[in-house]
Amino acid sequence: MKKENLIKQYKTIYKKVPTHIIRAPGRINLIGEHTDYNDGFVLPIAIDKYTNMLVSKNSDGKIRLYDLKYKEKEEFDIKKIKPTQQKKWSNYQRGIAKVLLDAGYKIGGMDVLIFSEVPEGAGLSSSASIEITTLLSFKELYDLEIKPIEMIEFARKAENDFVGVQCGIMDQFASLLSKEGNALFIDCRSLKYQYVTLSFMGYSFLVCNSMVKRKLAESSYNKRRKDCKYALRAFHKILPRIVSLRNISIDDFQKYGGLLSKKSRKRIEHYAYENERVKQAVEVLKKGNAKAFGELMYKSHKSLKELYEVSTEELDLLVEIGKEEPGVLGARLTGAGFGGCVIYLVEDSCIEKLKEKILYVYSKKTGLVPQFYEVVSSRGAYVLT
Ligand code: GLA
Repeated sequence: MKKENLIKQYKTIYKKVPTHIIRAPGRINLIGEHTDYNDGFVLPIAIDKYTNMLVSKNSDGKIRLYDLKYKEKEEFDIKKIKPTQQKKWSNYQRGIAKVLLDAGYKIGGMDVLIFSEVPEGAGLSSSASIEITTLLSFKELYDLEIKPIEMIEFARKAENDFVGVQCGIMDQFASLLSKEGNALFIDCRSLKYQYVTLSFMGYSFLVCNSMVKRKLAESSYNKRRKDCKYALRAFHKILPRIVSLRNISIDDFQKYGGLLSKKSRKRIEHYAYENERVKQAVEVLKKGNAKAFGELMYKSHKSLKELYEVSTEELDLLVEIGKEEPGVLGARLTGAGFGGCVIYLVEDSCIEKLKEKILYVYSKKTGLVPQFYEVVSSRGAYVLT
């Protein structure tokens, strides 16, 4: 939707003009899945699908929201913030306001119109993009001095505490700090990051939505986190120097993995090798070696399917279709899994044929009509001038 249209809608709802338009993108993760919450490495890019928030201050301490997707409004008082079971979509804004207040920041009311282009439940981080737009809105309206890393931590905390998903830090990081034309290589232990130029000339990332909304994603996601905690505890008993999964080298895994339960062994095996793959992916990306990058993507998917067990039949089918198609170098699920999207690294001249093939085979086998997004790596959150 055009900016002018959004402003018009804002005027109709709030009888005034917005003072700011804030935007934050969704993301795809190129590689490094389910590693962020165990101090590992990730390599996301922001995509050209944004959550837009038109905002202005009010002086009555109320947060008034209107979401164009749900065509619903909601309102809460910043002095009495609690999660709600009714209009659950407002828990993101509630969470952010609460986290800021708890940290001692002085914020007041705001009147908000939300328009998100990021598909929901598709593993493209619509949640993080909403959290980051909300945070940036408060920051701009109330001149808050918050460092980017703090913003990221706050956004994650809001999701952990208010939405109940024990997510890691990758999505909020990518939504705030991504740079056009670059992937963001994040070390989730030190929180240091590096931009890596996307240099695969003649190749693009195609995103295909399986149209299976993440079922029970939250609880399954939290379960995987628990599995990792148990696995860590078990490994720590064997090797006391292991206090984070990040301390486990592939060598350690090969020596001691056999002493773990089957489930713990699988989870740790995924983590240890996936972390290595991220580092390798960064190297081959720097060299512009698309073929090697694609192979790492396939390996990552296999590991997510067999060891971490977060794939679905539909996602596996999409990856398999890719393997058969000329010009496709790699494919894998992106994000938490349990539904959502697959990304392909594909030669530009083969994109249309790949889409046709997927449409035909996938629809025939599943009865679902997949959606495609040809994404461009984009900039992180900003204030539209
Ligand atoms: C979700 C979470 C992230 C990350 C991915 C899996 O997107 O929000 O923190 O754990 O799943 O890699």
